[in-house]
Amino acid sequence: MRLVVAIIRPEKLSEVLEALFRAEVRGLTISRVQGHGGETERVETYRGTTVKMELSDKVRLDIGVSDHFVEPTVRAILSAARTGSVGDGKIFVLPVEKIYRIRTGEEDEAAVTPVAPVT
Ligand SMILES: Nc1ncnc2c1ncn2[C@@H]1O[C@H](COP(=O)(O)OP(=O)(O)OP(=O)(O)O)[C@@H](O)[C@H]1O
Ligand SMILES: [Mg+2]
Repeated sequence: MRLVVAIIRPEKLSEVLEALFRAEVRGLTISRVQGHGGETERVETYRGTTVKMELSDKVRLDIGVSDHFVEPTVRAILSAARTGSVGDGKIFVLPVEKIYRIRTGEEDEAAVTPVAPVT
């Protein structure tokens, strides 16, 4: 099991969600975050000009998946979140030790959110 953590542009969120839905990824968490990706900002002060780390609004997705879902999940994000300009974001893939579904007590693979039937 893996946790796919993706930092993306907020304006790409709906495209990414659509792509994830098409890839049959169902369980995920979204947070609004601020991040720094290397870009700096010049700031005028009374002593002259200094450079400070620029922070920009991003969206973070946390997606817990079983191993065979890692590749389709990452591919969906890569293609839907890319503009080609600096600041498109990052994807981290982390190992996950345990997953529990609270309602049933199911663990691990059985506790990863299943593909929901289309209603
Ligand atoms: N090494 C990192 N660790 C944690 N978060 C990061 C890291 N690099 C980037 N981020 C997050 O991703 C956001 C977007 O980063 P960004 O797209 O600028 O990455 P980059 O590697 O500099 O790519 P680019 O060359 O396209 O700018 C940042 O605002 C930050 O939230
Ligand atoms: Mg950058």
